[in-house]
Amino acid sequence: MFDKATKGDLLGFPRDFLWGAATASYQVEGGAAEGGRGPSIWDIFSGQEGKIHDGKTGAVACDHFHRYSEDVALMAELGLPAYRFSVAWPRVMPDGRTVSQEGLDYYRRLVDELCDKNIEPVLTLYHWDLPQALEDQGGWRSRRIVECFTNYAMAVHDALGDRVRQWTTINEPFCSAFLGYGAGIHAPGHTDPEAALVAAHHHLLAHGTALRALRSRAREGQQFSIALNFSPALADGYGPRYAEAARKFDGLHNRFFLDPVLGKGYPSDVLEDVAHVGGLAEAIQDGDLETIAGTIDWLGVNYYAPTRVKPLDDPHAPSNCPLPGLRGMDVLPPRPPLTGFGWEQTPSSLTELLRWLNWHTGGIPLIVAENGAAFEDKIDAEGRIRDDERTNYIAEHLRAVHSAIEGGADVRGYLVWSLLDNFEWSMGYSQRFGIVHVDFETQRRTVKDSALFYRDVIARNAVPS
Ligand code: NOJ
Repeated sequence: MFDKATKGDLLGFPRDFLWGAATASYQVEGGAAEGGRGPSIWDIFSGQEGKIHDGKTGAVACDHFHRYSEDVALMAELGLPAYRFSVAWPRVMPDGRTVSQEGLDYYRRLVDELCDKNIEPVLTLYHWDLPQALEDQGGWRSRRIVECFTNYAMAVHDALGDRVRQWTTINEPFCSAFLGYGAGIHAPGHTDPEAALVAAHHHLLAHGTALRALRSRAREGQQFSIALNFSPALADGYGPRYAEAARKFDGLHNRFFLDPVLGKGYPSDVLEDVAHVGGLAEAIQDGDLETIAGTIDWLGVNYYAPTRVKPLDDPHAPSNCPLPGLRGMDVLPPRPPLTGFGWEQTPSSLTELLRWLNWHTGGIPLIVAENGAAFEDKIDAEGRIRDDERTNYIAEHLRAVHSAIEGGADVRGYLVWSLLDNFEWSMGYSQRFGIVHVDFETQRRTVKDSALFYRDVIARNAVPS
């Protein structure tokens, strides 16, 4: 099965394993008012006082909008076989509905550049930058968004379908719906649990509806997917109460988004847990679950860290964790070792997650669509960035992926988050996830040691054991 026998000090990956790096439009592009782009909810949200660390916005970000050519050349130097990026809906449809040829042309140029360098484009249609015009009409709270998203997906497919094989509808609906409409820490910044659940349903319905439409026009070899973020729940003790706390968190965080996509409908235990919030039952109309259940060719698995949980004495007491309607359990502080962002480093949870997904999905191919870590990087006197902690994080997680494959999981790829240091949402530019350093004053790119390590992994199709 493995390209290179798993021997000595190397752990080999399957032949044709898809290696690459990922970014997202609002986090790297900049050019916010250029090329006819309309405002997105993130332009408006980040322009409000107190929403983003240091008051930053993505108006310039990594200036990838102007520097994509240089960035693609860098990807080629690093030997990256794939680049996962997202299309900005407000660049392609400034008002959310009307196609801008100029916007589409930008992505055509980017994709051409990638194809020229033999880098596989892995295109995400929605990575959170909703046109503000659509938010003004209700955004993801309104069912009308489903038709808008499908029209947008079709417009992008019409323009790029001849060159892009790998398509992802939506990235992390959990964050877009729950953090954007429930917790208020992401754009558009609402704090309404009912809206969060309804928005989640509309994300999934938009995924299913667009998937159908995309399939109806699919070209030979094209593959369609969704990327979900998983955080396995680790109970901080034994016994039924702890198991129940883990079930609740896992239910709303993970299974609530996964099960409908797999055709299993919303998990009944989660529907019970959130019934007191209201709104969701009315939002689910006849036929919706069938629509959401369209076949995906692979599942994008975004994994960073597990979540530690414990039960509360009162099963109805609100959780300290801002998931809509979650009660009777609390999230505990992560356990060291932590990343610079304060996230727990537990690679074994990735192995368990991939193996569980293999079983729970009935063997759907999996691609780790995001995994990586933020640390405080320093450029040394020689101009080098010795980010050993990031290298170690990536290496450990690749070993975890390898072990899942050995255990039978059908993992087809790994896309590191991120190619570049970028706009880390509410944290602004304070958290650097890149394998390439970006000096945001000069826009100078510096390859970090982790990128060189990753280049070697890709070249050998193997990770050191
Ligand atoms: C998941 C998101 O998709 C991405 O946009 C974000 O930067 C990373 N996680 C790190 O937080």
